[in-house]
Amino acid sequence: MSSSVSKYFQDKYKPSVGPDELEQPLYNPDLLKKLDWSKITHMKNGVTSSTPGEGLLVRPLCKGDYDKGFLQLLSQLTKVEIFPEKKFEERFEQMKSCRDHYFVTVIEDTDKGEIVGSATLACELKFIRGCAKRGRLEDVVVNNEYRGKQLGKLIVSTITLLAKEVGCYKIGLDCKDEMKPFYSTIGYGSEKGNDNTMIIRF
Ligand SMILES: CC(C)(COP(=O)(O)OP(=O)(O)OC[C@H]1O[C@@H](n2cnc3c(N)ncnc32)[C@H](O)[C@@H]1OP(=O)(O)O)[C@@H](O)C(=O)NCCC(=O)NCCS
Repeated sequence: MSSSVSKYFQDKYKPSVGPDELEQPLYNPDLLKKLDWSKITHMKNGVTSSTPGEGLLVRPLCKGDYDKGFLQLLSQLTKVEIFPEKKFEERFEQMKSCRDHYFVTVIEDTDKGEIVGSATLACELKFIRGCAKRGRLEDVVVNNEYRGKQLGKLIVSTITLLAKEVGCYKIGLDCKDEMKPFYSTIGYGSEKGNDNTMIIRF
C-alpha cells in the first residue's frame, strides 16, 4: 500500500480488525478527496463524500469487505449467490488488475463495521472522441434500514463526480421506469430521440 493510501486510512478509516491485506482498496482513495462538490445542489445539510454524516465513511471497496456484509447488501439489489471469501478476493484482484476501469465505491457504517451503500463506476475505454472514456453507473444499492436519508443520492453523486474526475466524457445508466424520478433528482435525464436501451439477456 502506498504511504498516501495508508495515511488516508489511518486518518479516515479505522478497520475493526485485520491485516493490511484486508484494507487494500480497489482504487486510490485520494481520488475521492479531489471530487468537486461545489456545483451539487441536490444534497441537503452539506453532505458530501468527505462529510457523509456521523459514523459514515465513503471509500473504495476493500478486499476485506466480504466480512462487512457487502454481498448481503448486493442481495437487496438482485440475485446474489453467497460464495466463499476466496472467490470474492479473486474477483477483487481481477477488477483491480483492470487499472482505472472498476471503481466500486461503498458507504460504511463505521460504528457497526458494515457496508450500507454501494455503487460502481465502470469506465469504458473508447477509440471515438480522441480515445475518450465513457462511464457506466452500475449496481446502486442502499441497505433498506438506511434508505430515505440521502445515502442513495450521496453514492450516485459520488460516482458521477468520480466519473468526471477520472476523465469520462459522459456517464449513463440503465434503470426501470419507476427509478427515473430518483435519478432525475441527481441530474440524470433522457436525451431527445435517444431514450431506448435495448438488451439481450443471456
Ligand atoms: C434506490 C435507492 C438506492 C435509493 O436510496 P435512498 O438512500 O433511499 O435514496 P435517497 O434517500 O437518497 O433518496 C433520494 C430521493 O429519491 C427519492 N427516491 C428514493 N427511492 C426512490 C424510488 N425507489 N423511486 C422513486 N424515488 C425514489 C427519494 O424520495 C428522495 O427524494 P427527495 O430528495 O425529494 O427527498 C434504494 O431505494 C435502493 O437501494 N433500492 C433497491 C435497489 C435499487 O433499486 N437500486 C437501483 C437500481 S437502478
